[in-house]
Amino acid sequence: MDGEAPRVLVVGATGELGTHAVHGLLARGAQPAVAGRDTARLDALAIRTGCPAFPIDAYDLDGCARAAPRAAAALGGLDGVLVAVGVPAFGSADSVPDAVAEHLMTVNALCPMAVLRGAVPVVRDGGFLAAITGAIVETPLMGTADYAAAKSALSVWLGVVSREVRRRGVDVVDARLPHMDTGFTTRAIAGSPPRLPAGADPATEMAALLDRLLRHLASARR
Ligand SMILES: NC(=O)c1ccc[n+]([C@@H]2O[C@H](COP(=O)([O-])OP(=O)(O)OC[C@H]3O[C@@H](n4cnc5c(N)ncnc54)[C@H](OP(=O)(O)O)[C@@H]3O)[C@@H](O)[C@H]2O)c1
Repeated sequence: MDGEAPRVLVVGATGELGTHAVHGLLARGAQPAVAGRDTARLDALAIRTGCPAFPIDAYDLDGCARAAPRAAAALGGLDGVLVAVGVPAFGSADSVPDAVAEHLMTVNALCPMAVLRGAVPVVRDGGFLAAITGAIVETPLMGTADYAAAKSALSVWLGVVSREVRRRGVDVVDARLPHMDTGFTTRAIAGSPPRLPAGADPATEMAALLDRLLRHLASARR
């Protein structure tokens, strides 16, 4: 990539899609910082890639909001943030315990919102703020009411923020990726997934997303 290496924070870098994003960014000449919950995987990723790393947990929203300022300090500025944090749970709405519903809202909505809220003042003009929501916000399936509601809450929030930062040229991206083969549904905290279509290839989907994000940075620099 021409010019200065884009400095990008990946949150949820310890997950399948987050790890794809980190390697994809490095392959494209960017300079990532990484944040994740599982400290053993986070440390291993930081050692493998040389990226600055920050632990985050969805239940520490103040800590989530500090991730972008910390990354900006470590990288000498911040061009973009990509949030790939999430967890599913399944079952008819009347069978989902409130504690599970609260967990889904915290991890899938409040955590990404806190990360990106903290990023708004530090991301450079012409940068990007992105989160992976999913195709589920367009076509919520039966048995996913609480997961889909959390992702939809995040999606609506991103839409409003997009208008709030438009004058600064910041691209707010609601990445509605399709179901992919990452094993995500096997990590559900409750219930079993409904019948899903064959999973798309995560490498292809993430490559398209990264290309879009970096194209925006390149065009904003011109
Ligand atoms: N895979 C799909 O088919 C698909 C489709 C559309 C959208 N998405 C979305 O894409 C994102 C990533 O999915 P994936 O397939 O890469 O799943 P994944 O491998 O399970 O990754 C999930 C990520 O969320 C983090 N996380 C979970 N609970 C957390 C908590 N309490 N606090 C902080 N972080 C937490 C995990 O952190 P640790 O690993 O450090 O615990 C991990 O980094 C999710 O938002 C998902 O909803 C996935």
